Amino acid sequence: MPRTLASAPIMILNGPNLNLLGTRQPEIYGSDTLADAEALCAKTAAAHGGTVDFRQSNHEGELVDWIQEARQSHCGIVINPAAYTHTSVAILDALSACDGLPVVEVHLSNVHKREEFRRHSYVSLRADAVIAGCGIQGYAFAVERVAALAGTGDATG
Ligand code: DQA
Repeated sequence: MPRTLASAPIMILNGPNLNLLGTRQPEIYGSDTLADAEALCAKTAAAHGGTVDFRQSNHEGELVDWIQEARQSHCGIVINPAAYTHTSVAILDALSACDGLPVVEVHLSNVHKREEFRRHSYVSLRADAVIAGCGIQGYAFAVERVAALAGTGDATG
């Protein structure tokens, strides 16, 4: 039985340097903090009767471990892999092992408006949707999309 938002939290993962959000290159990433993003995700999920499990790591292997955890016990994944977007086959493979689980990739900045190397994403090969350039609002859009794909568990799905 697929898990719905009513029965399991959304795993929201953040990659390296996103702990510095708000003070790190605010002209690119904005002045909102990661705590602001977490509060927005929690509020958006709550509006659909759900919860989030919001995490950040600077370590690739830890992100892989958390994706494997989500595979067993969450209703979907929202991931901003940060720099690992452009380098990590390990994160792509972990996401690809999550059969049928909704996956939405988020970037605060519009990666297509920046350096050429940011235009390639390994994660996009598995993601069901990609949101870029909306700041922390992109996380709210991603939560909405996971809720739609996983179903909220009420009669309207
Ligand atoms: C980012 C974009 C990546 O290219 C960059 O390495 C990041 C953040 C974003 O949210 O815009 O660390 O994922």
